[in-house]
Amino acid sequence: MDKVKTRRTTTIFCKFMILLGIVGLSACAEHVREYSEDLQHFEPRDQMTADLDMYVSPSLETYQETDLFENGLTSQEPVAGTIPRGFMPYLYSNDSAGYNLAGLEWKDPLPNTPKILARGEVLYSIYCMHCHGQGGDADGPVVQNSVFPPPPSFLTGTSSRGGAMMGLSEGKMYHTIMYGLNMMGSHASQVSHEDRWMIIKYIKSLQAATLSSEDEESDDAVEGKALASGTDDTNKEVEDVDTQ
Ligand code: HEC
Repeated sequence: MDKVKTRRTTTIFCKFMILLGIVGLSACAEHVREYSEDLQHFEPRDQMTADLDMYVSPSLETYQETDLFENGLTSQEPVAGTIPRGFMPYLYSNDSAGYNLAGLEWKDPLPNTPKILARGEVLYSIYCMHCHGQGGDADGPVVQNSVFPPPPSFLTGTSSRGGAMMGLSEGKMYHTIMYGLNMMGSHASQVSHEDRWMIIKYIKSLQAATLSSEDEESDDAVEGKALASGTDDTNKEVEDVDTQ
């Protein structure tokens, strides 16, 4: 008797579950049927009508026509003067006036930290070294292994635009990276605004190291001369003592 009861209960339960499944599935089907057309967003909807449903949003496709704007485009142009985040506009022209003005006004905004300098060295090794040489002396592998004309050395050369490369201002260097010069192409697409300044820091550090080693050499030379002519500091002191 009990067994029959249990079996009947199980059958009822199974039927119930099947029914529940069917209802559930049909709910899904209903859902798809109801929203599939709207999800294509082809018709801009009037938000103020009864159809104010977040799910059926009145969004437009990017290149779809619309009468919401005067020019009939859904995708609008950015407002004049808009710049992408992190992008620094460069307003100096690609001619000698722009070059000279950048030389006067365009200044390195980055702090002088060992980390930034080290990064500058890495970037220089990637983008400049093969022509300009790791030490900046125009002896990179491209120059040594081909007929490519060597650029002027950053340490001893003269710029084709006039003046010693040692005296090249950071703004002029930046201008050259932006636009290139004769055989050197523009590197604006390879190195970002900040990367350019880091590279320039590295070149400047090479030049500063050369200057200080030249200073040491000339100090030595002066000292050598002084010793030879017998007028070094020790003699002077002795003289001073004598005259007192
Ligand atoms: C393909 C070889 C090549 C590469 C790579 C290259 N340069 Fe040059 N660079 C040259 C040549 C050649 C010149 C000389 C151009 C001239 O005066 O006609 C030059 C000149 C320069 C000058 C002097 C500009 C002036 O005002 O006289 C600077 C500064 C400079 N390069 C910086 C760089 C930096 C920074 C990089 C890396 C981002 C770089 N170059 C990468 C070949 C190269």
